[in-house]
Amino acid sequence: RGAPPTAVVIFGASGDLTKRKLIPAVYNLAADNLLPPDFHLIGYGRKEIAHEAFRELAAEAIKEFSRRELSDDVWDRIAERTTYVAGGYDDPEAFKRLAAHLEEIEKKVGRDVQPLFYISTPPSVFAPILEGLGSCGLARKHLDTAHHAKVIIEKPFGRDLESARELNRTIRGVFEEHQVYRIDHYLGKETVQDLLVQRFANAIFEPLWNRNYIDNVQITVAEEVGVGTRGGYYEQSGALRDMIQNHTMQLLALTAMEPPVSLDAEAIRDEKVKLLRAIQPLDVKPGGDVVRAQYGEGMMGGKPVPGYLQEEGIAPDSATETYAGIRLSINNWRWQGVPFYLRSGKRMARRVTEIAVQFKRPPGTLFAGGGFDVAANTLSFQIQPDEGLSMILNGKVPGLETRMQPVKMNFRYSTTFGSNTPEAYERLVLDAMIGDGTLFIRGDEAETSWKLYTPVLEAWHGSRSGMDTYAAGSWGPSNADAMLAAQKHIWRKP
Ligand code: BG6
Repeated sequence: RGAPPTAVVIFGASGDLTKRKLIPAVYNLAADNLLPPDFHLIGYGRKEIAHEAFRELAAEAIKEFSRRELSDDVWDRIAERTTYVAGGYDDPEAFKRLAAHLEEIEKKVGRDVQPLFYISTPPSVFAPILEGLGSCGLARKHLDTAHHAKVIIEKPFGRDLESARELNRTIRGVFEEHQVYRIDHYLGKETVQDLLVQRFANAIFEPLWNRNYIDNVQITVAEEVGVGTRGGYYEQSGALRDMIQNHTMQLLALTAMEPPVSLDAEAIRDEKVKLLRAIQPLDVKPGGDVVRAQYGEGMMGGKPVPGYLQEEGIAPDSATETYAGIRLSINNWRWQGVPFYLRSGKRMARRVTEIAVQFKRPPGTLFAGGGFDVAANTLSFQIQPDEGLSMILNGKVPGLETRMQPVKMNFRYSTTFGSNTPEAYERLVLDAMIGDGTLFIRGDEAETSWKLYTPVLEAWHGSRSGMDTYAAGSWGPSNADAMLAAQKHIWRKP
């Protein structure tokens, strides 16, 4: 898998994501010799920054955030091809300067260079940037060749169904769908890609992967961090938009979709969309399929922390949820009657993302008489941290009497493979350069997910009705426990 000569243009070059993730990703690709020959990196932003100053910022970012030490060897190779273009996001003249800059690079290199635009700005300027790329001709650059322009679009992809549709319309007015790479960085995580391998490269799971053997599935994306300094953004977003609609739904889709006919991007995305379309509309009434809550004060790592409403930049009567819990029913042949529970929250007991598949209990006849508590088998994909896969089985405790106990079979990435695995953004930037859209969201996929959640957002909008509280450092609110209890389930404490 090789990429053609590429110039990555980052819009939002002095932003946080650029510093924390994108530049370190480029650096690590360079260190692994995965960048194409004639690779160029161009920062684009409103601030006036000289080429040399931008290189210094980049080097600082690598020192602070890369998984590898900065080595001069590697860095020198990128530094001499790192440049900066200053310009407004809605300034046609600036886009012309960018186009001229790209042409100059091609002249120097002596061949076509595919432009890869990475839009990593606040969403308010997504549309002007896309239109700017359209009107200066860059969006169609080399369109009929393998070196055609590509665009990566960061989250958030819209804030409800209507805005996602609108954004898709803007994109399609300028780019063709095959040029577009909508990011969900969860898809770049090693363990998320491993889900497909585990499901479809092992014969033992597929026969059990259905309503006959599975009792319920729990997908947890829990964070320890609070809202921090991101209050301004988070107040406009909340857990449902920030985590559930995108990341958690991607985990769900890969867990529950039908086997794709091939590993092609389109084949996989077709299956994901099909799955999303099979989800029954959510009951947004109290006692229904959705719960929300805000963290109150509590203890994290032995230290007291403030509640959400006391955080900087948060309205004292804010109606933004920091926790959302969802019960989904998938109306298809495979899953009917199996609840899928999704939850995501900030300031939870532990940072952990896992997919736990709970199997039905065996018939009680053999062991029930002995007063044994036969545990339900659980297969859990630990997405992060401490990446791995574990299975809970029932085993006999050694001894002359028959006693049993749940035992755990464990596979850990760190023990088997060591721990220096690529970061999500490395894989995603490389895939986009190569032109592989498998790990990106298709336009219809984004809309289908928003279609499910927009009624929830509408029901919640501007009102605190039904908003519960959970102590920071806990496993979430009691309304979420009640939602599961209604079906005799309990949340795992991973
Ligand atoms: C981002 C959200 O998309 O994902 C953040 O905006 C969240 O609020 C982050 O903290 C979590 O990502 P990860 O990779 O650290 O699990």
